[in-house]
Amino acid sequence: MKRPTSSSLSYILPALSLSFVPPGVFGKPISRTTKCTQAQHPGPSNPSFETGDLTGWQVLSGTAFGNSSVTALTSYWGGPFNQKGKYFVDSFVASGDPAIGQLRSESFRASSYLSFLIGGGYDPVNLYVGLVRDSDGALLVSQTGMNDEALIRIIWDTSAWAGQNVHLLVYDNNSGSSWAHINIDDVRTGCNALQDDNGLTFTVFGEANQPATGSSPSCNLYAADVVRPQYHYTPYQGWINDPAGLIQWNGQHHLFSQFYPDAPLWGPMHWSHATSPDAVHWAELPAALYPPYPNNPQDTSGRWTGSAVNDSQNRLHLVFTDFTDLAFHPGATEQVVSTATSSDGTSYSLYPQNPVIGTVPPNSGNGFRDPKVFHDPTDNSWKLVVGSGDGSQGKVHLYRSTDLLSWTYVGVLFEGDGFTGSMWECPNFFPVGNKWVLFYGGRSLGWFEVGTYNGTSFTSETRGLLDAGPDSYAMQWYQDAAGRNLAITWLGNWPTSKWPSRLNGWAGQQSITRELFIRPDGGLGSRPIPELASLEQSGNAKSWTQKTVGDTAIVLGHTTTARLRLTVDVPSASATSFSIRLFSSSAEFVLVSYNFATRILTLDTSNAGYGQTGQWQPVVVPGSDGKLSLDIFLDRSTLEIFSSDGVVTSARVYPRYQESQDITIEASGHIVFDSISLTPLGSSWC
Ligand code: FRU
Repeated sequence: MKRPTSSSLSYILPALSLSFVPPGVFGKPISRTTKCTQAQHPGPSNPSFETGDLTGWQVLSGTAFGNSSVTALTSYWGGPFNQKGKYFVDSFVASGDPAIGQLRSESFRASSYLSFLIGGGYDPVNLYVGLVRDSDGALLVSQTGMNDEALIRIIWDTSAWAGQNVHLLVYDNNSGSSWAHINIDDVRTGCNALQDDNGLTFTVFGEANQPATGSSPSCNLYAADVVRPQYHYTPYQGWINDPAGLIQWNGQHHLFSQFYPDAPLWGPMHWSHATSPDAVHWAELPAALYPPYPNNPQDTSGRWTGSAVNDSQNRLHLVFTDFTDLAFHPGATEQVVSTATSSDGTSYSLYPQNPVIGTVPPNSGNGFRDPKVFHDPTDNSWKLVVGSGDGSQGKVHLYRSTDLLSWTYVGVLFEGDGFTGSMWECPNFFPVGNKWVLFYGGRSLGWFEVGTYNGTSFTSETRGLLDAGPDSYAMQWYQDAAGRNLAITWLGNWPTSKWPSRLNGWAGQQSITRELFIRPDGGLGSRPIPELASLEQSGNAKSWTQKTVGDTAIVLGHTTTARLRLTVDVPSASATSFSIRLFSSSAEFVLVSYNFATRILTLDTSNAGYGQTGQWQPVVVPGSDGKLSLDIFLDRSTLEIFSSDGVVTSARVYPRYQESQDITIEASGHIVFDSISLTPLGSSWC
């Protein structure tokens, strides 16, 4: 992400008469044992706007702020605002998004820490809450919003300026019509900046707390960010979505992702690139593909999702969607298929005669994208599936090639009935045993179809969800050297506006590597690959056998980077249900429960902090031996729950408090679990 630089701020400076202090003074993670008592001074008056107006604050300019921008609204389209007390400031409510303006607090002496709640649009240059030194007008530190309304706490280490006179500047210079406002509430200083009124310690958010780096991720860098997954792939700064180009090539697993490095938002697409010897430990490589018009960030043309194969010259051969932004290139074909190759796996050359498929087949009005190449044993050729849709139903087109460069249209492999959406993205097609599996994204969900294939068309027998949770999309399959069917899915989803990690400069993450298999009921199942055991810190593991659980909660441990496994013999359980609390404290928790009668597993994030809230309820069935196992991966802000029948349920979780790490279990009734184990997991980057 681009933090404001002195040059990007220069056109603001004359108006504000500010000078800019580079963010390098930050970078030390804020721990719970702090120096908060060293410098404690009162903050500005009316810190939470509980007067219901701007008493104590001063409108410097514009119409975005005024007494009517202090609001008592409690909810918006995406849920509650989560203000502290009754009121907060929202630069939208007085005069709408296009209004601009500046609001400042009273001057106060800087303490060692300062925190406040922020919401609103992402625009580090034009929308922020800043700390300004009175003596020289220097903008010491600033924080922009995350394109969501709900308020999240930002914490700054302000000890470098302790005792100096400063003020807060709420700055809205964005006159756009969408996400062009900023929300603020509850300014706190000193130790109160780190803890709430009940003594719980706030989770530390804020771009200023991210150590500066130009280099690859490392365990220390990633450990410093308390919401950063430790063993799920994330971009250090910027945005990722779909995994792409998955392949094991010359021994190494390659993971590419849709990537926009300049902001934690979708933008002109690059392909980020990481490799791994075991599909667990990743090393970051330079981006593999870049958008075609990098000099104009408004032009969203980019290299969209695609796939990788090993070609006849043992090159890593990428086949992807070349997307052209028609607003800047009228008359172009918006989505075509292009290719790039690499002999060393690191640097990629675009094929000079791109595109390799430049004409969109008939009845593809909703789109034509995400080519996935596979070797088809039915005629020993290369085939490619590509997502599409027309009118009311999604479809998958099939192409054939012998050289990966010249492609012949075979026809529509399969089309839907509208239930799974009108545009299918990211299709994958591959044999498993004597069946063929087709999966794709539609209606913001990942769907599988298991059935049969005659060389030109597919007949579906069983349909289901690839992941029962809210945060999986654009899964991609690949076959490794051992012949396993592996997959990685993007743990993000479009419908939610909850992307709290944007406040730390990044958004999006990939799942752990999953192995796919056909379940006894004919559906597609997932399980974690065994290589994940290499992350286990077994010396600190806890395990129980024949563990009795009743209606008093048992604390199993206190961690958010771990693997929790349990097995129960369902016929012998006399309880009606059991429930597990994760990311739990007195203030919040994620609830995972299982009802023996209905066989419904419930993932409930209604009380789980800043992330998306809701309930997701797949049916999970015990094995023929009566056993049911759950294999739960927690990774700071990520949760993946694998059930023994192959159902997986994933969600992103952002606790508000650092204490929210308890893992507890209880039952309504009496259960003897065959086994329970809780094993801390290490980092993919160490
Ligand atoms: C799915 C998707 C793909 C497209 C890519 C663009 O998430 O919309 O269809 O290729 O993302 O980033």
